[in-house]
Amino acid sequence: MSNASLKTDSLAFCLHGAAQAVAAVKSGAALPQALARIFAASAAPAQARGAIQDISYRAMRHLGRAEALLAAMTSKAPEPALLHGLLCCALALISDPDVPAADAPYNAFTVVDQAVTAAASDLSIAHAKGMVNAVLRRFLREREALLQQVLHNPVAQWNYPAWWIDAIKSTYPGDWQAILAAGNALPPLTLRVNCRKIAVADYLHSLSEQGIAATQVGPFALRLAQAVPVNRIPGFEQGQVSVQDAAAQLAAPLLDLQAGMRVLDACAAPGGKTGHILECADVDLLALDSDSRRLPRIDENLQRLQLHAELKVGDAGARDWWDGRAFDRILADVPCTASGIVRRHPDIRWLRRKADAGQLAKVAQGILDNLWSMLRPGGKLLFVTCSLWPQESEAQAAAFAVRNQAIRLPAPGQLLPTANTLYDRDGLFYALFQKAPE
Ligand SMILES: C[S@@+](CC[C@H](N)C(=O)[O-])C[C@H]1O[C@@H](n2cnc3c(N)ncnc32)[C@H](O)[C@@H]1O
Repeated sequence: MSNASLKTDSLAFCLHGAAQAVAAVKSGAALPQALARIFAASAAPAQARGAIQDISYRAMRHLGRAEALLAAMTSKAPEPALLHGLLCCALALISDPDVPAADAPYNAFTVVDQAVTAAASDLSIAHAKGMVNAVLRRFLREREALLQQVLHNPVAQWNYPAWWIDAIKSTYPGDWQAILAAGNALPPLTLRVNCRKIAVADYLHSLSEQGIAATQVGPFALRLAQAVPVNRIPGFEQGQVSVQDAAAQLAAPLLDLQAGMRVLDACAAPGGKTGHILECADVDLLALDSDSRRLPRIDENLQRLQLHAELKVGDAGARDWWDGRAFDRILADVPCTASGIVRRHPDIRWLRRKADAGQLAKVAQGILDNLWSMLRPGGKLLFVTCSLWPQESEAQAAAFAVRNQAIRLPAPGQLLPTANTLYDRDGLFYALFQKAPE
């Protein structure tokens, strides 16, 4: 797919890049990996990368509506996938019913013009530039009627697959609309203050001195009023703060850590919770992850924080990496569908299948039972998921407690994702277990 004739500072170039990303997600790729491949293969400067990322993330949050509009205006699905992706990106940008045209982040006529230019620039879809022009201009002309027509369909209204909407509705009958809406909101930038380096009040003060507004949303959690690039966060390079959602910041304090304890962080990469554990207490920490490509991320995080853990590649469901010495504390932040963090990863809803929760729950069950045998009597295991599906969370926790005669200690349980300024967090699940003392 070539777009060499497009200027890299044009919207057409960015729409073309985002269309490639949407096409990749439709064929099963995760959006961050798809974008990394597109950036590696193109000469996109930093600003264009930012715009391509912005457009493709918006497209994920508005894909249900964009595809419904496309279906209403075409007799058969546009092919190839790049053409479908381009039309979806353009429609996602110009069809938000909650945003008046005057407030839209992208001017609708410019989007249409630039989408046609993007189509014309690429030999694989140049033949369809007239169709791109006709479809998008028809949408602008008949916007209200077309929106009214498609928004009856819950997929177009909520921008999730139908099975996902049904599952959230039946699991959370009182909160389903708020949960779906929270998953479509832009996630905040939340920081965790490293209490080894600076007090929360002092850090807040230094933020306000630099004109950065923030609200405290947890003991160490500060939500910035506006996101800033990581390299412009004061004290970030010096390890004064890390980027971490307020819900994820609950893990380390729940572990009830004391100096000298032997602790296992069993599914540790990229090390967000690893760093917080070490900020909280001087423990002997083993950080394990089965993905060797993700382990260096833990190392980078710990180097920045000037903290130390032993890092190992290993399967938390196996025993070959274990030296036989029991752990005082175990954090099991197991692999899951990530259905509770869709506001940060809006592609997940389109990538997951209904059966995934059951399959991942089986893997997690193997990990939990295996880790339990590595915990000392009287020790504690904290089970965490970022899922909203009970099969992966509460049902898993309840069955685990029965199977292993584990004592269940107080923990937050299922946190529902919320998006308001005072209390803002991802949808994580926490269950805490203690092994009976001998
Ligand atoms: C939810 S993420 C962990 C996030 C991390 N705890 C943090 O706070 O930054 C789950 C991690 O589990 C790892 N993983 C998946 N299966 C695993 C297994 N069988 N054993 C160990 N790690 C595994 C994945 O590579 C992934 O890095």
